[in-house]
Amino acid sequence: MKPTVLELRRKKGARLVMLTAYDFPTARIAAQAGVDLLLVGDSLGMVVLGYDSTVPVTMDEMVHHTKAARRGAPEAFLVADLPFLSFTSAEQAIANAARLVKEAGADSVKLEGGTEVAPIAAALVRAGVPVLGHVGLTPQTASSLGGFKLQGKDEETARRAIEGAVAMEGAGCWGVVLELVPAPLAALITGRIAIPTIGIGAGAQTDGQVLVFHDLVGLFAGYTPSFVKRYAEAGELIRGAIERYAAEVRDGAYPDATHSFRMDPEVLKRIGGD
Ligand code: KIV
Repeated sequence: MKPTVLELRRKKGARLVMLTAYDFPTARIAAQAGVDLLLVGDSLGMVVLGYDSTVPVTMDEMVHHTKAARRGAPEAFLVADLPFLSFTSAEQAIANAARLVKEAGADSVKLEGGTEVAPIAAALVRAGVPVLGHVGLTPQTASSLGGFKLQGKDEETARRAIEGAVAMEGAGCWGVVLELVPAPLAALITGRIAIPTIGIGAGAQTDGQVLVFHDLVGLFAGYTPSFVKRYAEAGELIRGAIERYAAEVRDGAYPDATHSFRMDPEVLKRIGGD
């Protein structure tokens, strides 16, 4: 059954399982597999839409994919990302969160950033929108962080991640994603805040883990970060299936009689067939 936000806030140490899902079949399979939380991440821009970063992702694209994921998993707790520059003011954030929650059916929004976005997160929470924070590597602003790099190795960036997580807790978020930070820093943050942390490339001592579906199943042809464990090679499987289909069409093996429809011979004769 879908947890309430109040229940989620109490899931410290619960080893929550979160997975991205951007469409009907994936959301359905992930929900059937028992995933606790689904995320319509703006990573869809890279793994589904072919952009080279998450920066170009639009609100319309997020709404479109969130609706599809919701149809696939009507009972799941579904989080949707507010994309880059869609939450530059409280008013804009509330209007865009309303699209994700009311129009597309998300249960919560996620927004990237630390202390600088905490007032926006607080405004969303005051407006009644459940918010998941996201600190450490924030892909939407990766270029100002020096690229897709481990965050929090030095004192300055480690303090920034801690302060960001604390600020998001103070803003009323129900949880915080910690992306690409050293495991000891993630453990420290997890011990310091009372809401669940969900790690990605953040070691084992967070309260949950999240992965990008396409990385997990081996469907993304681009760079796979070293923290990702590929549990399947779905890309290989699919390519093999398509190659067999093409070969069978070309040599006449498909479609055979078992994959064709019969017709009453009398009717066929009457219309000029034999
Ligand atoms: O967009 C996304 O998929 C994310 C996860 C990597 C946490 O933000």
